[in-house]
Amino acid sequence: MTRFAAPPAPPRDAAVKGGMEIRNFLAGNYSTGLSEDVRAGLVGELKTLPPKYFYDARGSRLFDRICSLPEYYPTRTEMAILKDAAADIMAPLMCCDLMELGSGANWKVRILLDAVKGECMGRTRYVPVDVSETALKEAAEGLVSVYPGLRVVCLVADFTRDLADLVGSIDGDRTRLFLFLGSTIGNFSEDEGDEFLREVAGAMAPGDRFLLGLDMVKERDLLERAYNDSKGLSAEFNKNVLHVINRELGAGFDPGDFAHRAFFNEAEERVEMHLVARRPVRAEVPGAGMTVRLEKGETIRTEICRKFTRERSLEMFSAAGLEPERWFTDEKGWF
Ligand code: SAH
Ligand code: TRP
Repeated sequence: MTRFAAPPAPPRDAAVKGGMEIRNFLAGNYSTGLSEDVRAGLVGELKTLPPKYFYDARGSRLFDRICSLPEYYPTRTEMAILKDAAADIMAPLMCCDLMELGSGANWKVRILLDAVKGECMGRTRYVPVDVSETALKEAAEGLVSVYPGLRVVCLVADFTRDLADLVGSIDGDRTRLFLFLGSTIGNFSEDEGDEFLREVAGAMAPGDRFLLGLDMVKERDLLERAYNDSKGLSAEFNKNVLHVINRELGAGFDPGDFAHRAFFNEAEERVEMHLVARRPVRAEVPGAGMTVRLEKGETIRTEICRKFTRERSLEMFSAAGLEPERWFTDEKGWF
């Protein structure tokens, strides 16, 4: 496999602080992208929005709280797997670059960093990539204080748009471990997911590794409870996308006009997240130059969370030219 030949795009904005550096590839693009996505997604019969807009500062904090809810099994299950597997995962890599796509609060990479041997820490780099600048900053500051000597290069970027540039912008020829955890790949459609895996595969050099977190198909009840918690955090998180649209595009959505709905669509093997209009809605969205209309009961699908089987994952890997080297799972086979 070859590495990308395109010259790396210069970061639009870079700042260095202690063992930590922030490069912003997004600067200004966020609301333009949002405006286009709203124009394309909030018209017609099936209204949808891309899930990346959940994650402003407030959304990232809400998601972090969701991760420690008892109903939300994915985080603790994946973390337990990582604890058991960390030494095996890191042994062939050691002084490498860890590039995490959609790093969020970065709790998981700490488990891997704990398995990096002392003398290696100074030659290990962590490169988190996330659209949420606040989440990146806060999480990275915590990290450099816990792992002295670790270099952290934060990339504020959209991993669906800039992956080649992002990988190309990291100098040096150290072995890399790409991380894509939390089953975030399930938030892509099948085609988007296949395309994304091909991009990652294309960015890998010989010796690099890719650790992918996949949430498996399981009992409906467990799945639905994970996305309908009793504290209402999932509902608040889902509605956060309306706050984002209001702020970024000067829109007039009243989040109180919507109810949170999450259910397992068994035929499609995915959980779907919707915002359901409780009454007829008419909202001006000046930043997108449009008016959004919903009838009572009509929904905006804000996210899909595809769930996987081994069979299905193997097909997905081979379509992307990836070969699984090892599987790590929990005793219930949930993740
Ligand atoms: N990896 C963490 C967080 C998962 S939530 C975990 O496993 O718990 C998904 C994360 O990806 C969020 O932090 C969100 O801000 C980020 N994200 C979502 N879409 C993105 C995109 N298109 N580009 C970059 N980051 C994205
Ligand atoms: N990426 C998370 C997932 O697929 C998103 C998520 C968790 C979510 N809980 C939610 C989205 C509640 C909307 C509402 O698991």
